[in-house]
Amino acid sequence: MTDKLKKLPPAMLTLDNKTYELPTLIGVEGEKAIDISKLRNQSGYVTLDEGYGNTASCESAITYIDGEKGILRYRGYPIEELAEHSRFVEVAYLLLNGELPNSQQLLDFSTNLNESSIIHEDMHHFFNGFPRGSHPMGILATMVASLSTFYPLPDRLDSATEQQVVINLISQVRTIAAFSYKKSIGEPLVYPSYKLKFVRNFLNMMFASPVRDYELDEDIVRAIDMFLILHADHEQNCSTSSVRTSGSSMANVYAVASSGISALWGPRHGGANQHVIQMLEQIHADGGDGTEFINQAKDKNSTSRLMGFGHRVYKNFDPRAMVLKKQCDKLLNKAGVNDPLFDIARRLEELALKDDYFISRKLYPNVDFYSGLILRAAGIPTNMFTVLFAIGRMPGWLAHWREMLKGDQVIITRPRQLYVGEPLRHFQDIDQRP
Ligand code: SDX
Repeated sequence: MTDKLKKLPPAMLTLDNKTYELPTLIGVEGEKAIDISKLRNQSGYVTLDEGYGNTASCESAITYIDGEKGILRYRGYPIEELAEHSRFVEVAYLLLNGELPNSQQLLDFSTNLNESSIIHEDMHHFFNGFPRGSHPMGILATMVASLSTFYPLPDRLDSATEQQVVINLISQVRTIAAFSYKKSIGEPLVYPSYKLKFVRNFLNMMFASPVRDYELDEDIVRAIDMFLILHADHEQNCSTSSVRTSGSSMANVYAVASSGISALWGPRHGGANQHVIQMLEQIHADGGDGTEFINQAKDKNSTSRLMGFGHRVYKNFDPRAMVLKKQCDKLLNKAGVNDPLFDIARRLEELALKDDYFISRKLYPNVDFYSGLILRAAGIPTNMFTVLFAIGRMPGWLAHWREMLKGDQVIITRPRQLYVGEPLRHFQDIDQRP
């Protein structure tokens, strides 16, 4: 336990006429916790908290969120300041190392990322093996896990190797993503270039080809860079918790990163940005303006949800959504961007923000509502949206993986349960069964 946690007066818990003293702690920003790590040994009781919404799984110094106040900070820096003044590569360095880099550190980190962007030529055969139309997230999860076969690692990594593997992953996930897209549209691969910086390199790999150069639009470069900054970390979200859980078994970092990608794929987590566009496309195809869909999303008997609205933690507003909304309006108001889906999105936003169903449940636009629109305006294909989320989240996942391994001791994640199945019973031969 770090010395940053301060002790409070113990909590007293009485169970079965016996009173237990439970230590209580307070974090740097005033979050309070009851330490129940000895509860089962002392009392035989476990706690139940499905979805862990009331449970701190660890101590962490990486990201701080206050859901009620709409606060998000990476290593103490407000997300609004980083989005405005920083760039994704600098933010990745901050998340991984705890401090903003000086100019030499940033140059070295950026150069290393560029020089680590190529993947083993033999990996290209894998791309040919995927069926046409394979979802890029399935390809990404598979290819990232397969990096462990092309770049085998010892069980324990020295710090130089760990630092390089982290840089390789942040850089190569971008190359694998672009290659999977090129394969999906039957175009030749475009290799990374040492002459282009992180986002420009990615866009060039995605949209250039041997027969045409890709004209970089600085507004799109800026929008994608900001998208990656805003998605770079988010404390113990579903995919980061998957990374910490799989990392706690000492699995290799490529398998751990692949577990994060797989968890992120879900429509209620990282897949929401793709589902926002699919929702808008459906409304457009039905000839609606969103009013009917809002009614469906409110209907308990319907499985429809207003994608891009609501959040497990932000119960007022998602600060990332506020930042992205500005960038989104700028990109959508750009000359030539005229897409009926954007009008439907604005209509949904207008209706939901004044509808008591959403207001009473504190369901406001989250990061995915605007990020889907930005990526569409940037020309990113819809099935690549969550892939970009994974590229952005990779530094955050790896910062948490590294933090977990640096702890006093790596405790393997192994929650308990309340059993509600059959009591003891004995095997019956098949001819004795009903
Ligand atoms: C991300 O954790 C993170 O940090 C995640 C993330 C990150 O950066 O890693 O921020 C990224 O995952 C953002 C969220 C993306 N998902 C979506 O946009 C999908 C649509 N939203 C939801 O499915 C939902 O809002 C969740 C899953 C995001 C949050 O759900 P909660 O807080 O657990 O809320 P709930 O499921 O307990 O629902 C509470 C009520 C229910 O109604 P009642 O039973 O009270 O009548 O709100 C309703 C729900 O039916 N509700 C919605 C709704 N979200 C919740 N109703 C309609 N549309 C919605 N979107």
